[in-house]
Amino acid sequence: MALYDTLGATYGRTRQPDPRIAARIRAALGDAADVINVGAGTGSYETPHTVLAVEPSQVMLAQRPPGSAPAVCAVAEHLPLPDDAADAVMALLTVHHWTDLAAGIAELRRVARRRIVILTWDQQVFRERFWLVRDYLPQAAAFDDARAIPIDDLVALLGGARVEPVPVPHDCTDGFGAAYWRRPHAYLDPQVRAGISLLAQTGEDALAPGLAALADDLATGRWQERHADLLARDALDVGYRLLVADY
Ligand SMILES: C[S@@+](CC[C@H](N)C(=O)[O-])C[C@H]1O[C@@H](n2cnc3c(N)ncnc32)[C@H](O)[C@@H]1O
Repeated sequence: MALYDTLGATYGRTRQPDPRIAARIRAALGDAADVINVGAGTGSYETPHTVLAVEPSQVMLAQRPPGSAPAVCAVAEHLPLPDDAADAVMALLTVHHWTDLAAGIAELRRVARRRIVILTWDQQVFRERFWLVRDYLPQAAAFDDARAIPIDDLVALLGGARVEPVPVPHDCTDGFGAAYWRRPHAYLDPQVRAGISLLAQTGEDALAPGLAALADDLATGRWQERHADLLARDALDVGYRLLVADY
C-alpha cells in the first residue's frame, strides 16, 4: 500500500494550493506548452498545461477535483511514458518520499524535453530557522534529517539547476510542515498534524512532550514574547526551495 493511502485521507482539507506559491511555480514552468506532474497527489499547483499526473496513492488520486488532468497510478522511479514526453516535468514536495531518488530523477530527465521544476526544502535552513522543530520537536527534526534530500545532491542529479528560495506567506493555505510558522496554535490541532507527513510519521507519542510545552508557552504568552519579531513578518524563508533545471 502506498504511504499516502494512510497519510493522505484529509489532504484535500488541509492542503489547499497557496496562490502565492502557485505563482512561483507557474513562473518556474515558464512557457512550457505541456507539463507532467510527478508525485501529483490531489493535483495542487497543476496549471491548465498539465497533460498528465503521476501518483502512486489511490487515496490521493480519489481526491483530485473533477476536471483535473488525466492521472496514472505509478511511481517516479518507473514512469510509464516515452522519452521526451513533455516540455516540462514538475515534482512538488514529493522527492523525499521516493524509494530510489537517483532512479526517479533519471526518469524525470528522460521524459522532460526542456525543463524540470522541483519544490523541496533545505533541511539545514529548516531546522535552524523553524522554531517548531528547533525548540519543541527535536524528534521531528531528527526524522527529517534522515529523509530530507540535500539540495546539492539534487542539483548534481539534475546535472545543474537554479535554486530559488520560496518564502512561506504568514497565511499560507497549503498546510505543509512550516505553513503555520505565524499561527502556532495550529500545530496543536490533530487534523493539521495529520496533513503534515513530518509530524504524522514522527508519531503522536514522540510529539506529545513538545506539543505540551508549546501549549504551555502559548497559554503563558512565552511563545508570543520570544517570537515577537515573527508576528510582525508577512513571509518567512524557512528553507523551501524551487529547483529549476533546463536541458
Ligand atoms: C506531500 S505530497 C505532495 C503532493 C503534491 N505534489 C502537492 O504538492 O500537493 C507527496 C506525494 O508524493 C507521492 N509519492 C510518494 N512516493 C512516490 C514515488 N515513489 N513516486 C511518485 N510519487 C510518490 C505521495 O503519494 C504523495 O501524493
